[in-house]
Amino acid sequence: MTQAIDKDRVLIFDTTLRDGEQSPGATMTHEEKLEIAELLDDMGVDIIEAGFPIASEGDFRAVREIAERSKNSVICGLARAQLPDIDRCWEAVKHAGKPRIHTFIGTSPLHRAIPNLTMDEMAERIHETVTHARNLCDNVQWSPMDATRTEWDYLCRVIGIAIRAGATTINIPDTVGYTAPVESADLIRRLIETVPGADEVVFATHCHNDLGMATANALAAVAGGARQIECTVNGLGERAGNTALEEVVMALKVRHDIMPWHTGVDSSKIMNISRRVSTASGFAVQFNKAIVGKNAFAHESGIHQDGMLKNAETFEIMRPADVGLAASSLPLGKHSGRAALRAKLRDLGIDLADNQLKDVFVRFKDLADRKKEVYDEDILALVHAGEDAA
Ligand code: KIV
Ligand code: ZN
Repeated sequence: MTQAIDKDRVLIFDTTLRDGEQSPGATMTHEEKLEIAELLDDMGVDIIEAGFPIASEGDFRAVREIAERSKNSVICGLARAQLPDIDRCWEAVKHAGKPRIHTFIGTSPLHRAIPNLTMDEMAERIHETVTHARNLCDNVQWSPMDATRTEWDYLCRVIGIAIRAGATTINIPDTVGYTAPVESADLIRRLIETVPGADEVVFATHCHNDLGMATANALAAVAGGARQIECTVNGLGERAGNTALEEVVMALKVRHDIMPWHTGVDSSKIMNISRRVSTASGFAVQFNKAIVGKNAFAHESGIHQDGMLKNAETFEIMRPADVGLAASSLPLGKHSGRAALRAKLRDLGIDLADNQLKDVFVRFKDLADRKKEVYDEDILALVHAGEDAA
């Protein structure tokens, strides 16, 4: 099938409910999964990998119900390179308006040793399973797991087989987060140049974060020609996680000047889904996490607060509203200056003369040296302590 590929558009494939949930301890309830899938669909995620239908009865039910309720997104299920897996996956996703089967097999030497298949036997298995999937569904994604540690010639050979058997998307997983940005871009570029038929399918990138490079590797892969990024909300996923959805979406939006591709995601819905995934998975978001961390739009030091009060662009490259946050915050602490204290007092409806502000500031600094964060109640108490003393 020849498909129209929009070279300016990057498809967002969210796997929070599959790879994200595989994170130890991140199991979500059926209702939570349905709710998260609805939020993903609503915010413009192109493809939702809803689960691994053969893995359990619960996963099958979740994928099936997400498929039934889907509105705009393609609903995808994962299947190993085995016919019963693929049949089970199809049974679950076929209820979607736009179903997809995603089948995979580990192609690197380490992964080939597990099913104990020779290279030829594995090639034959890929042909058989992708053909089978394509006979069921006209949207088939195939992944050579551990692609970034697979021999170049063999990788080209098996991708060619999958394309000839009817795969419409070829995903290149960096399963153990081993690649680096230059290599990631180069790998996709060379595959597209080398494998016959590669220009007729969408190439996808699926990066893990073991070396903290998942987002950089995914964006580099797009520069190399990939047009689908696989990611999860909050970067949830096995070990150090996957590429974070919020990071790639915002990076493409903020640095469109040097990365001229767009997504269909409404970024103002990011904060809401981040919080929902955090509560459902039980995984707190680290304070300094890019885009969605508690401190991502917070400024404590005097110089930064003063700059922010004059012009937010001094220390922010995104507007809070772009990610669905009402406003930045200027928490008061020992690094804060007089300008932020004055602004806080005004917010609290208190307008002090300069000499009064000076007194309160001295008492504030003394308190801030003893306390991590100074709250509104502390400020009010400091002001009243001054009044009592007068
Ligand atoms: O990391 C990986 O290789 C995967 C595959 C199943 C795509 O998650
Ligand atoms: Zn993965």
